[in-house]
Amino acid sequence: MSNRVYIFDTTLRDGEQSPGVSLNINEKLQIARQLARLGVDIIEAGFPITSPGDFAAVQAVAREVRGVTVAGLARANFKDIDGAWEAVRDAEQARIHTFIATSDIHLKYKLRKDREQVIEAAVAAVKHAKKYTSDVEFSAEDASRSDVDYLARVFGEVIKAGATVINVPDTVGYSTPEEFGLFIKAIMEKTPGIEKAVVSVHCHDDLGLAVANSLAAIGYGVRQVEGTINGIGERAGNAALEEVVMGLYTRKDRYGLTTGFNTKEIYRTSRLVSSLTGMPVQPNKAVVGKNAFAHESGIHQDGVLKERTTYEIMNPEMVGIAASNLVLGKHSGRHAFRDRLSELGYELSDEELNLAFARFKALADKKKEIADQDIQAIVEDEIRHIPETYLLEYLHISSGSTVVPTATLGLRKGEELKEEAACGDGPVDAIYKTVDKITGLQCVLVNYAINAITGGKDALGDVTVKLKCQENEKIYIGRGVSTDILEASAKAYVNAVNKLIFDHQPKN
Ligand code: KIV
Ligand code: ZN
Repeated sequence: MSNRVYIFDTTLRDGEQSPGVSLNINEKLQIARQLARLGVDIIEAGFPITSPGDFAAVQAVAREVRGVTVAGLARANFKDIDGAWEAVRDAEQARIHTFIATSDIHLKYKLRKDREQVIEAAVAAVKHAKKYTSDVEFSAEDASRSDVDYLARVFGEVIKAGATVINVPDTVGYSTPEEFGLFIKAIMEKTPGIEKAVVSVHCHDDLGLAVANSLAAIGYGVRQVEGTINGIGERAGNAALEEVVMGLYTRKDRYGLTTGFNTKEIYRTSRLVSSLTGMPVQPNKAVVGKNAFAHESGIHQDGVLKERTTYEIMNPEMVGIAASNLVLGKHSGRHAFRDRLSELGYELSDEELNLAFARFKALADKKKEIADQDIQAIVEDEIRHIPETYLLEYLHISSGSTVVPTATLGLRKGEELKEEAACGDGPVDAIYKTVDKITGLQCVLVNYAINAITGGKDALGDVTVKLKCQENEKIYIGRGVSTDILEASAKAYVNAVNKLIFDHQPKN
């Protein structure tokens, strides 16, 4: 059996199904490019039949991102499969991923089909997909709650029909590691022709066991793991791929397996996904959390200073968290700034570098020492990947315990400077009402979150907002960074508004 585990990333499909997450095509492309740099083997770019936007995003990823397999999801029917193929056909390597549920509970209440009808639909779907591509994955939705003998029959039939990957999802995150491992063992033993397919797992995290279940399954011969960056996804999310991969890497002694991951790209990928989805990473999150490598207790600090491995089983550089000795400040020049950016993995065009450097200089006037996280935040804030219809030109706020909060704002739209003022319940509310007056758009603020990038009174404030468009009910996420939290709040709102406008523009 091969000692290579294939990593199937579904951040753009199952991850995007996280409540309140919606990515536009440019954001999906940005994430897909970074996933390719990270070294995932397969990118599930979306579920093309669900909307024209999803179709266009899958097609764009298939056409542009090289060095990976691009998969499109399809239910087990011809219309979905035709749509998925149209979307992925231009990929370097295209995969159709088709699925149907196999548990009695799904058959009875959701599909209203009997077991034989499900086998028929699954086989027909795989045969139809096979006309388009040799690379066909079949998933048995809710597999972990299915009767194992029936499941083995389904898998045997779809392998006969041409499926090259069979996937065992723990769709509702119900399994436990010992149980799931033995379930995989039974499938391996009972499925006719299993040696012709790669066996895959897809675990959800409802009981917090998705990574443990995935690793247990690998122990029984699974060679493809599906999951997402930061573990985002439906409900409690999916298996966090960075945790699965670092588990295999750190415990090579136990598993003896490899992946194609460039682990040094993990942190950057995690930040990008968090920033574009507006889903913060909890500080104590394994591998990528802010505290994952922080040693607080004196005994631990002493141990790490004497010998790192006393309390560190992975080192931060391994996952791309730079241990920089170089602190940048107001005397640092363009050259040092550019070097630091490239160490952090950013390749900017000259124009982008100019913008980022100007922001860096402005920040250095306010903040004595600029940390790597500050640099990452200003670059991500400055380099927007959608047209900026409105740009914040100036902001004036009057607020206090005895006055009505009032905002006056200037937003540039092309050549024109549009100015307005409004009162609100607080200064942020006043700013947002003023932006609405200028743009004439009806948006509902559904979420506002503020975070300090580093410690200290001069820390950058990082604001994320989620707006709901009244017209199509879609959520738009905006982000703004500034040492002035009201300015960061305004920028975040304007960023979300620009995304909404971009989404409504006709695309050719
Ligand atoms: O959780 C699940 O069962 C899925 C399938 C479509 C693979 O996401
Ligand atoms: Zn899923």
